[in-house]
Amino acid sequence: MKTIMEPFRIKMTEPIHIISKEERIKALERANFNVFALDAKDCCIDLLTDSGTGAMSAQQWAALMIGDESYAGSKSWKKFEATVQEITGLKHVLPTHQGRAAENILATTRLKPTDVVPNNSHFDTTRANIEFTGARALDLLCKEGLNTALDVPFKGNMDLEKLENCIKTNGAENIPFAMITVTNNTGGGQPVSMQNVKDVKALLSKYGIPLYIDACRFAENAYFIKQLEKGYEDKTLLEIAQEMFSYADGATMSCKKDGLANIGGFLCTNNDEWATDFRNLLILREGFPTYGGLAGRDLEVIAVGLMEALAYDYQVYRHATVEYLGKKLDKKGIPFVKPVGGHAVFLDARKFLPHIPQNEFPGIGLVNELYIDGGVRAVELGSVMFGKQDEKGNEIPANLELVRLAFPRRVYTQSHFDYLVEVISDVWKNRTSIPSYKIAYQPKFLRHFTCHFKKI
Ligand code: F0G
Repeated sequence: MKTIMEPFRIKMTEPIHIISKEERIKALERANFNVFALDAKDCCIDLLTDSGTGAMSAQQWAALMIGDESYAGSKSWKKFEATVQEITGLKHVLPTHQGRAAENILATTRLKPTDVVPNNSHFDTTRANIEFTGARALDLLCKEGLNTALDVPFKGNMDLEKLENCIKTNGAENIPFAMITVTNNTGGGQPVSMQNVKDVKALLSKYGIPLYIDACRFAENAYFIKQLEKGYEDKTLLEIAQEMFSYADGATMSCKKDGLANIGGFLCTNNDEWATDFRNLLILREGFPTYGGLAGRDLEVIAVGLMEALAYDYQVYRHATVEYLGKKLDKKGIPFVKPVGGHAVFLDARKFLPHIPQNEFPGIGLVNELYIDGGVRAVELGSVMFGKQDEKGNEIPANLELVRLAFPRRVYTQSHFDYLVEVISDVWKNRTSIPSYKIAYQPKFLRHFTCHFKKI
């Protein structure tokens, strides 16, 4: 059959509340034009994030009931640890309440202000955790990754030449670890090839620098490798993930993505000394090392979810939904990052709204219009999220101005996507009338979550 259908039936439903356009305009004004401040009940298709927003399977709900809530050494912890070790092969596993807690422990125990941490692209929380220590977070993405229209595979790869230059310029002694993010969320959810992970590891090894994988979407990345990289066609997604992690010295993970859970994360390492430091800080910040920031039931849910994310049928369906939206938008000439990512379609706001300069935040204009027009909540990944102000208050723009439509896992059906296409097409038709914005208030770190905007 040509039709790829959802490999599940729906057992439980959640109503969608649809408010009028006039009500949405008022809600957005109350939110100071920042969609993070909207009430979720006022969004009819919520594509703000794919993080923690997925639907759990019957197996996960069943696992939740057998959660062992013992403070130390619970049965649920043993399952969690064994599953993470089976997938990653990494020696020490530390559970955390989400990915950024793992990043925080890694950054605060290892970094000093003169340090540098290279990555293909740091996600916002990773960058913030590194910068909070005074160290610098560098994005060394391959040049193909910066060209949104270029339809080639593995645009998430790290640029090896830039990496070697970075090591030579800063000195290996000032790079306590390097990272690689799979898939590359910041740059369009683009995958990293196995060859690139292998090459990055080989180069870092030459200088004695450990490699940590930001593994949030490791299963989606494994599917891309199976589909696109020679030699992996006949391997299972688990085998591919195992090989990928075999090149890593450690990993940070948000189980809210490819753990198919609503909360959770972990930090892994092969380094005994680092593991001791991590554990001590974990106890202070998160909890005892056999539960971290999680309940026993969460550990159960994640142990099941990590394996469900590696199920081939699930990934076929997941990628088909993203491609479905991509094809429909392409037919209408709407600009987005090509090829589509694993967890989202990223609209190219600079091409969508060429009349809005980067320092007037085209991504915010587009996000707000999608909400007003159809109640669709998306998120800007552009100069608000990744740009910043210099000491004189001048805006330093980001490389790309993207608007991400992130797909919660196993939540929306094809008609929801058809509705979405209608909304985006409508906004596309009226694009010349979309206003630009300025920032009226912003905090020092992670400004996109809480800043206020004003229409120009
Ligand atoms: N790394 C990447 C690549 C991420 O996408 C995220 C979260 C994190 C780390 C942090 O994990 O949220 O569990 O603390 N990304 C979400 C998103 C929030 O919307 O893309 P967390």
